[in-house]
Amino acid sequence: MTRRKFLVNGLRAGVVLLGTKGVYNTSRYNLELRRVALLVPGLPSSFDGFKIALLSDIHSSAIVSEGLISMSARMCMDEVPDVIALAGDFITGTNHVGGSGKVGMEKGAREYIQRCANALSTLKAPMGIYGVLGNHDFWSGKDAVDTICKSFTDKIGVVWLRNKNFRIKRDAQSIYILGVDDHWQRSCSLVDACRGIDIKAVKILLSHNPDINIDIEFSKKKIDVVLSGHTHGGQIVFPFIGAPFLPSTSGQKYISGVVKDGTRQTYITTGVGNNMVPMRYNCPPEVAIITLKSS
Ligand SMILES: [Fe+2]
Repeated sequence: MTRRKFLVNGLRAGVVLLGTKGVYNTSRYNLELRRVALLVPGLPSSFDGFKIALLSDIHSSAIVSEGLISMSARMCMDEVPDVIALAGDFITGTNHVGGSGKVGMEKGAREYIQRCANALSTLKAPMGIYGVLGNHDFWSGKDAVDTICKSFTDKIGVVWLRNKNFRIKRDAQSIYILGVDDHWQRSCSLVDACRGIDIKAVKILLSHNPDINIDIEFSKKKIDVVLSGHTHGGQIVFPFIGAPFLPSTSGQKYISGVVKDGTRQTYITTGVGNNMVPMRYNCPPEVAIITLKSS
């Protein structure tokens, strides 16, 4: 077979595969539970086995059903997590032209926010539910951001980590959970998020975009674990080729799973929903359960 024929046949096979009803229908609803254990040097012994459920990129919209979001909440609660982390992109915004903080709210956003908050209303965690905002939340307008924050705090008591930190105590020991505004926003501040924390303390940073690692490297701050989403794992991932579109300035480095930068570990979830097109390929959505280990 000539090289040209091989490429043409490959392209045809790809088109057929993408058009297959089974792929289209099942992949984006095939929510997987991913359990990940992270060995964290210096983790206080009382936090050995500390379980964090990570939900991200829900993208409540016309192409992400309330049923899928509810299912993610059920899977999360079945694991009985100590803490729940919500890593942003609750809805899908398109108003990135003109920057963040635009007053007003995109059409339909209020309904999708309420749908998302209702679907996640069963979430409960003894040590708290923490949230950060993603680029799409900001792109939905300032009123949308305010509505997301209020709805989730009223319904499930989310503590928003907008460049803030929270001390989690267990017995006489403690760790910190920190959060930043989306990395693409001017309001993102790792310095503010770290303010007041002992330099040696174990820090878990919640950042929608894993590219926050660039800021961490630059600042030389000691962050032990970063929990992120944003990339959707590529959402559409071709065999041999990979993900043709990944919204990251770090290339494919932070596509999904555990990435190590020295002693710092980043977990990037593929997320719950989908964006742009109502499909996933070779990249199922997930609920991630991160268990911290001291040894
Ligand atoms: Fe997203």
